[in-house]
Amino acid sequence: MSKTGVIGGSGLYEIKGLVLKSRKKITTPFGKPSGEYFIGEMGNKEIIFLPRHGKRHNIPPHMINYRANIWGFKKFGVERILSISAVGGIKKGLKPGDIVLLDQVLDMTKNRKSTFYDGKEGVVHIDFTEPYCPELRQILLKAGKRTRVPVKNGGTYAAVEGPRLESASEIKSFAILGGDVVGMTGMPEASLARELEICYSGISVVANYAAGISRNKLTVAEVMEAMKASTEKLKLLLRQTFMLIPEKRRCPCKEALKEAKI
Ligand code: HPA
Repeated sequence: MSKTGVIGGSGLYEIKGLVLKSRKKITTPFGKPSGEYFIGEMGNKEIIFLPRHGKRHNIPPHMINYRANIWGFKKFGVERILSISAVGGIKKGLKPGDIVLLDQVLDMTKNRKSTFYDGKEGVVHIDFTEPYCPELRQILLKAGKRTRVPVKNGGTYAAVEGPRLESASEIKSFAILGGDVVGMTGMPEASLARELEICYSGISVVANYAAGISRNKLTVAEVMEAMKASTEKLKLLLRQTFMLIPEKRRCPCKEALKEAKI
């Protein structure tokens, strides 16, 4: 049975309906992951869940050990990761509660360890033309249709360092560059997964209007509230997605290292 990983973001520290079988604490050559991995079953699939900010939300975005988290999934034999994150909505028409299936990324992070390949195992340049797994996005779309959970097909994620929120001018510039949503955790998660040939899908939940889009001051309470309000929808979507995931992968992600090494 193929294994699927789920990374939970702000407001998602457990998956309701996951039949928990065990919890595993591990270490990796890159240090400690955000916490224990929760291993269970849902929709006939083995699911491995990790809350990226820790179970009690005590790890800020810039302190997350992204390499350890992704390495841990690989160690468990995970082939696909569904990554859930709270974002600010930039694109016109996006509103709190909307779910966006990402298809592109703009990486504005500055201070993160963003590769597994520091030269010891040769020099690696993975292809990142299409940062998110196209097959998983199609499966999520189908799951959205079947469950009648509305999802938006495609969106560009502007990844920022945080932990502060953005200025109105920053958001304006991201919009000009093509950013649809903004968040603090989407990179380097996506590229690290690709470096280990794991399929990675970004499911963004709009928690607030990005800075300057609405006149209101942004608050953390608003972000948490919107995420809480979306958990039922997410659960439905995830359960159906697990059922639709085929055993074998037909996407290019599984061969990401082919022709990527010097
Ligand atoms: N900006 C950055 N990250 C976020 C936001 C935001 O407005 N909302 C939720 N995560």
